[in-house]
This record gives sequence, structure tokens and C-alpha cells, in this order.
Amino acid sequence: MGHINDIGSAIGRLAREAEPNLVEIRRDLHAHPELAFEEHRTASLIARELTRMGIEHQTGVGQTGVVGTIQGGRPGPTLVIRADMDALPIHEQTGLAYASRTAGKMHACGHDMHSSTLLGVAGILAQLAPDIAGTVRLLFQPAEEILGGAAAMIQDGVLDGVDMALGFHNHPELPVGRFAAVRGATYAACDRFRITVRGISGHAAYPHSTVDPIVAACHLVASLQTVVSREINPLDPCVVTVGAMHAGTVHNIIPDACELLGTIRTLGLAVRGQAEAALRRICTGLDATFRTQTALDWNPGVPPTLNADRVLDGAVAAVRRQLGEVFDAGEPSMGAEDFAMIAARVPSFVLRVGSGAAGRDDHLHNSSYQPDEACIGLGAQALARAAVELLAG
Ligand code: NI
Repeated sequence: MGHINDIGSAIGRLAREAEPNLVEIRRDLHAHPELAFEEHRTASLIARELTRMGIEHQTGVGQTGVVGTIQGGRPGPTLVIRADMDALPIHEQTGLAYASRTAGKMHACGHDMHSSTLLGVAGILAQLAPDIAGTVRLLFQPAEEILGGAAAMIQDGVLDGVDMALGFHNHPELPVGRFAAVRGATYAACDRFRITVRGISGHAAYPHSTVDPIVAACHLVASLQTVVSREINPLDPCVVTVGAMHAGTVHNIIPDACELLGTIRTLGLAVRGQAEAALRRICTGLDATFRTQTALDWNPGVPPTLNADRVLDGAVAAVRRQLGEVFDAGEPSMGAEDFAMIAARVPSFVLRVGSGAAGRDDHLHNSSYQPDEACIGLGAQALARAAVELLAG
């Protein structure tokens, strides 16, 4: 590699040159949001840009994903950088000129910016390729919002021969220009459950001749509150939420069944197993108490997203050299991220990229989310510098 500062100024210059096009691409993607595993237009726009930059790539990976490859001029390890591409089923309320043209779909999690940021990284690294030691594999991943796209791409072999991985997410609670890094678990495990409490239906006037699933289900919801409060160590974060409860039709019939839907979120593997075991036990106990028949459908989602110290330290040092002292203290989030599937297999780090616009109080998945687009160029610089230095070792 040439002088480390020469690399830094080259990255800065290339990012500034690319920025107008990256913003234009982001706005194009924003106007045309696509939901999980439907990212056909998004993928072809990305493939078109990679072709324009002369970057070798493959489409149709993990259904609608795209993989680009940049071969460095010298031998070295293989680094993955991953961006997600999918939008959300939200009706956009921003009123922007480039607002979603599809009713009920919106890029409200900023994956449009992630895709354009990674295209920015691709352009920078392609031009610096002779100075890079190793290989950069760029993953444009579908279906993050349903926690399914990473697994689909892994199944298609995108982690074969990979030594480490970088992910990133925009964070509107951080002002643009700021970054954050969380040691250890940065995002939570998220598992889903569906519980069906079966009773025996009958007339509301004669409850003794029925088995009432609603009363039993109400006790179940209350008992589930004791998983966190009475069983899990208070120093281990855990959330149990019942988000839906469906039963009955009218005021004078005790129904046959009551269905509950919920999630459990945890930051550690041990507490994840402990919470699942408690849920199973409480469901079993319900039947002995209320004469019901309870069925639990446990749907494992993603593990916690664990940052590897070595990758985090290397990346943070590189970002500091590129952009100065730009890091704020970050805390783990109880939200889930399917990059966890990648981080569970190769040493990884997820960089939090500030996207908060001045004077706004935005949050993700909100129908009025308006990030500061300067996070695209800054994010591209940060990730490109981190990639070059992590590969150089
Ligand atoms: Ni997201």
C-alpha cells in the first residue's frame, strides 16, 4: 500500500466525486421501494451501476441479491461488506419530490441509503484495487426486514472463503457525521411465537359446561410477564412482548380457541435459551390449571448480532484516521438485524452511521423519516477506509 495518508485523501476525493450520483441513486431507489424478495428493479439498478464501474458481479444470489467482487492487486484475506436493499409495508408521508410512488411501500429503514452507500464503497475500492491486499466481496442483500435474506445468501455460498465481514446501519438518533460502535452484542436476538389455547366453546350463561380459552389466555399473558421480572437475571436484557391476541366473535359465546402472537428479544445466547424454556414451561402449566390444550409454535429468528473485538478495533481506528474523532458511545439495541447470521459465522462488525438531520427528531420505520443524505458519502468513506486497513492487517 502507498502512504496511509495518500490512501485517505484518495478515498475522500473519490467519495466527494461520487456523491451526487450516489444521492441520485438513493432517491431513485427511494421512489421505487420493493419489499422482501421482490427487489428486482433494485437489483438491476445495482447491477447496472456495478457494470458501469467495471466491477465483476453476479445477480440472483439468495433469490434477488447481488454480489460484486473486487480483486486487490496483492494477495490477502477476503472481506465481505453487506448492505440490505428491501423496503417496508408503510405508507410514506414525507411529501418529498422523490417520495415512494408505490402506495403502502416505503424505504423507512434507510436501506435505499445502504445500497447507494455500498455502491459508493464499490466505486472507491475499484479505483484503489492495485493498492488493496486481498478481496472485497460486496453483498447487496434482499429481505432483511423479514430476517430471511442473509440466510438465503449464505445458503448460496457467499461466505465461502470469507475471513471477516462489515455491516452498517443508519441511525437517525445520531447526528449525521457521527458514528457509533458497540462492543459485543450490538443488536438483539429475535424469536417469534404463536400460541393457540384451545378450550371448549359454549353459551356465555353456562361457563361451567365450557373450557374458556380467553380467561386461560389472559392468565398466560400475565404469567409471561414473570419471565423477565422473576426468572431472568436483571443484568441480562430480555423483552417478552405479546403483540396480538385473537379470540371470539360476539358477547354471548365462549369461543373454542384463543391465539397469541409475540416475540422474545435477548442479547445473549444463554438468556435466549432460558427465556424459551420458561415460555414452554408456562404454556405446559396452563393446561393443568385451566383444562385447556395449549400448542406452542416456536419460530427461531436470528441470534444476537455479535461484534468481534478485532474487527471492531481495526475498523474504528481506520474510520478515525479517515474522518477524525467522530465516535459517540453506542448502546446495544433490542431491535434485531439479520446480519447476525453472517456475524455468527465470520468475525464481524456493524458500524452505526449517524443519519440524523438538523432540527429533526426522526426514528426508523416511521412514515415521515427524512435522513440527512450526507451520511451516504461519509459512510462510503468510513467503510472504504475500514476495508483497506482491515485487509492490510
Ligand atoms: Ni434496517
